[in-house]
Amino acid sequence: MDVTIAADRAGLVKARDALGPGSIALVPTMGALHEGHRSLIRLAREHADHVVVSVFVNPLQFGPGEDFSRYPRTFDADLAVCEEEGVGVVFAPSAEDMYLPDRQVEVSAGPMGGVAEGAFRPGHFDGVLTVVLKLFNLVRPDVAVFGQKDAQQLALIRRMVADLDVPVSIVGAPTVREPDGLALSSRNRYLSEADRRTALALSRALRAGVARAGTAGPAGILDAAQAVLEEAARFDPPLLLDYLILADPATFGPVGDDHRGEAILAVAAKVGATRLIDNMPLTLS
Ligand code: PAF
Repeated sequence: MDVTIAADRAGLVKARDALGPGSIALVPTMGALHEGHRSLIRLAREHADHVVVSVFVNPLQFGPGEDFSRYPRTFDADLAVCEEEGVGVVFAPSAEDMYLPDRQVEVSAGPMGGVAEGAFRPGHFDGVLTVVLKLFNLVRPDVAVFGQKDAQQLALIRRMVADLDVPVSIVGAPTVREPDGLALSSRNRYLSEADRRTALALSRALRAGVARAGTAGPAGILDAAQAVLEEAARFDPPLLLDYLILADPATFGPVGDDHRGEAILAVAAKVGATRLIDNMPLTLS
């Protein structure tokens, strides 16, 4: 069956009804779909009878000076991916259709939205949660699938669903990587060859940290990752670190030295004009 395009909210209501009986999984995206998104769609298909993919570059989650206007918009290619992956509906509204001109209410991400990534992108997670809640209300999915690559986003969405009693199950999907370790991201297409070489330090640093998890505590893990990032700061172009954090998955604050159990080693850095994030989970024993 061909994918139906819903270009506005009214179109979505019709397209959703036309899907017929069965459960619905939503895969929210900002387009520029790559192999990572394909893996989200495939996972969504395992969890529900129908898949809806939203393609919407959400202005609310970009701060001043960020890449909203240059964010890749590749709708025809995105549609082809959705068709190949058996998606039922692609919801691709305009910003004018999504947001009322006199809108006032937004979701607040709370303290967890102000640490780690949130400390560098004030208001970012409020914008993410606002659009995600709107998408949940519009699509009314049974299940929604998000990538572990945006670990803090995934944790905050789980938090929102629990705190606000949103009737949807959240599924996290593992990060998909290039063979050389680079985590797939729509922003990778900004990288020159030289940028890309530098960018590989992110996954190298995370792997160096994770490798210490069996024997070292938080400080040793962070030192191992930091050493790789410091070396990459001398590359051309240099890696400009925003943060490296060993985070508590429940709060995204830094873990204490006595922390045991699950933690997330997360990093964000600029390479040339591109800002990249990556993370790996680990267990402190
Ligand atoms: O992860 C993304 O692509 C976006 O943050 C999301 C979840 C689609 C909300 O705009």
